[in-house]
Amino acid sequence: MKLSKRLQTAAQFVPQGSICADIGSDHGYLPIYLVEKEICPKAICADVAKGPLKSAEKNIEDANLADKISLRLGNGLMVLAEGEADCVTICGMGASLMGEILDNSPKIVQNIDTIILAPNVAPEILRRWAYEHDWQIAAEELVWEDGHFYPIIVLKKGRMAELNLAELFAGPLLLKDKHPLLGEYLRSLRQKELTLAEKLLKIGQADTIKKGEELKNKWQKIEEAYLWQYKSAL
Ligand SMILES: C[S@@+](CC[C@H](N)C(=O)[O-])C[C@H]1O[C@@H](n2cnc3c(N)ncnc32)[C@H](O)[C@@H]1O
Repeated sequence: MKLSKRLQTAAQFVPQGSICADIGSDHGYLPIYLVEKEICPKAICADVAKGPLKSAEKNIEDANLADKISLRLGNGLMVLAEGEADCVTICGMGASLMGEILDNSPKIVQNIDTIILAPNVAPEILRRWAYEHDWQIAAEELVWEDGHFYPIIVLKKGRMAELNLAELFAGPLLLKDKHPLLGEYLRSLRQKELTLAEKLLKIGQADTIKKGEELKNKWQKIEEAYLWQYKSAL
């Protein structure tokens, strides 16, 4: 199984020998890869929709892995029994939905050792979630594929220091490790949000001015952190 760069990067953080549940798996490519490469002896492939799960079933059968990959139809982590998986991957959804999935199953989450998240947008929601729920960011990656940036966040149990605004948006480890794509990623986000800020300020109502100022303030803090870390402007 050949994975996209995004899923391949998520896969590289799955601990060797773990039982991994891929939530919102769709085609099932990730669990197939994990079992084929013998990273996981067994895996769980879950999706809330019948169509995607059907296509995963076919791909798993074609790969001759039906005895090693269990299919589950249902919402988020609710398809798992407590302690059944030690690693969970959730890729290719928005961060709010991922946060909801984690919040809806606290007992299952408690028994997981590693959570790997590859949100399409708004990774700051998940970094904040991690701090608030006593998980720490153990690793981070940033992937550029098909015209999009994809942050990947790996969580392990344990407390971390509260993240400042710049760390929340840029990623504490991406900043610390001076990730080569971080500047471009932040510049593209900044351009979008500062254009929005200007529009909000122009509208000139109390609430739009407040939101516009907040956006500008946020980007000033991110730029300061970037400048401090990289010794160059964004
Ligand atoms: C865009 S696909 C991503 C597929 C794959 N994980 C990837 O990254 O390529 C999102 C999948 O998540 C599933 N999904 C959405 N909400 C879900 C939920 N609450 N629980 C489980 N699966 C969900 C959708 O049915 C869909 O198949």
